[in-house]
Amino acid sequence: MGDFVKVARTSEIPPGARKSVWVEGIRVLVLNIGGTYYAVDDSCPHRECSMEHAKLKGTTIICPCHLAQFDLETGEVLAEPVEFPPTGPLPVHQAKTEGLDILVALTTDFDSI
Ligand code: FES
Repeated sequence: MGDFVKVARTSEIPPGARKSVWVEGIRVLVLNIGGTYYAVDDSCPHRECSMEHAKLKGTTIICPCHLAQFDLETGEVLAEPVEFPPTGPLPVHQAKTEGLDILVALTTDFDSI
């Protein structure tokens, strides 16, 4: 796992909001769902579509391109893309708050998924 890096102020990503940020050269989508922060690759592992405008269903994120569904906590594939399956899991990263800051650490080991 990488080091925690400040990516935003908590006021920038209130509950229900999201923001795409750069962390160590990786585009990461930070989401606030009911006060819990999640951080995932902003690039779908299927065909690299941006996840910035993806729909959410609870903690399931749905890629806008071919509708693959991923668990935001584990990155697990919950539904394969409707075209050109299969896809691999969505890389998930660590997110936390420290005072009024949101910090993200990249996860580089996905063997456990
Ligand atoms: S690019 Fe995301 S499902 Fe195809």
